[in-house]
Amino acid sequence: MTNTLLTPYALGTLRLPNRIVMAPMTRFRAHEDGTPLPIVADYYAQRAGAGLIITEGIWPSRRGQAGWRMPGLETAAHVRGWRRVTDAVHAAGGRIFAQLMHGGRHGHPLSRLAADIPAGPSPVPVPGPVHVRDGGKADPVVPRAMTRADIRQAVDDHVSAARNAMAAGFDGVELHGANSYLIHQFLADNTNRRDDEYGPRSVEDRIRFPLEVVHAVAGAIGAHRTALRLSPGNPQAGMTEADPGPVYRSLATAIDGLGLAYLHLTDNDRYPALADLRPRWHGTLIANVGENRAATGKAAGEAVLAAGRADLVSYGRAFLANPDLPARFAQDAPLNAIDQAHLYTHGSAGYTDYPRLEDRTLARAGR
Ligand SMILES: Cc1cc2nc3c(=O)[nH]c(=O)nc-3n(C[C@H](O)[C@H](O)[C@H](O)COP(=O)(O)O)c2cc1C
Repeated sequence: MTNTLLTPYALGTLRLPNRIVMAPMTRFRAHEDGTPLPIVADYYAQRAGAGLIITEGIWPSRRGQAGWRMPGLETAAHVRGWRRVTDAVHAAGGRIFAQLMHGGRHGHPLSRLAADIPAGPSPVPVPGPVHVRDGGKADPVVPRAMTRADIRQAVDDHVSAARNAMAAGFDGVELHGANSYLIHQFLADNTNRRDDEYGPRSVEDRIRFPLEVVHAVAGAIGAHRTALRLSPGNPQAGMTEADPGPVYRSLATAIDGLGLAYLHLTDNDRYPALADLRPRWHGTLIANVGENRAATGKAAGEAVLAAGRADLVSYGRAFLANPDLPARFAQDAPLNAIDQAHLYTHGSAGYTDYPRLEDRTLARAGR
């Protein structure tokens, strides 16, 4: 098998030793106030061999909190908590972006610090039941429709969280415009029924909020530290997009040339995002090919690079279960299976205890 994944890449001023990116993955390892637990630093440092790590989704302010024990980047305690993580990753030789994930209509008063009703583009609830704090389930609440002031606030919340990310030592931020969260809710059909300039009247209106967030964050921390993730047509959490092409082509064209760090696209069976948008985007493109499919393996990543569809490939489940994923790809070694039972628990089991290849070698040598 070819090994293009293992070749270096220059991402702006960052020198990536390989093209294997750790995809963002929510793991619920935060204190109740949203400060990451100490084991979060261990978890990411174990995976510092990635070309680039993208953290789990982080709420920019409690107004965007989608779930209990998800981490935030709002308070001084959050910044201190994340500083421990970035220091550990950098000390281990890695690079790390924070994913800013505003939940929009996601979230429930029983799973939010503010105990309030979440707000999204329109009062359309997520499909239920939803998870709430302490392992409970509840019927979804109808979100509040965001006012113009709420929209302004959401833009500002992304800016202050991006500034906090810089203070915490991150190399950049990825704005989560994918997989059913706030930015995606403005882009999709069923979640955006607004009749103002942020509504679906035209493609320009539909992409207005995503563009405002991109411009504001890039203006605050630098375009080269700002990235965007999109998942055109992804039906996750009840999203519907009948014709993603025109919307995402316009968005890709509008952000092309801003000098962003990268565009992170998830492909899926409903819309060939990589094939359609790659020609419209001249910056770095990270591909994710596993959404709604089996976990991505080495061959799938190599195929995307060989076809010229992306510069880097992100791996979610494979990286979660294999802290030394690049070394395993280099040796075409077998991969650990994922521990499904501990995906969303709060301890180190199924989190920081996945074995590395060298552990097997040491065990065989009787050491
Ligand atoms: C446990 C888990 C949590 C995830 N959380 C996030 C998240 O916080 N933000 C996000 O953009 N994608 C999230 N994803 C999607 C992954 O980033 C990735 O797109 C998906 O797992 C497909 O890639 P894979 O085949 O390499 O696993 C999550 C996936 C998993 C398995």
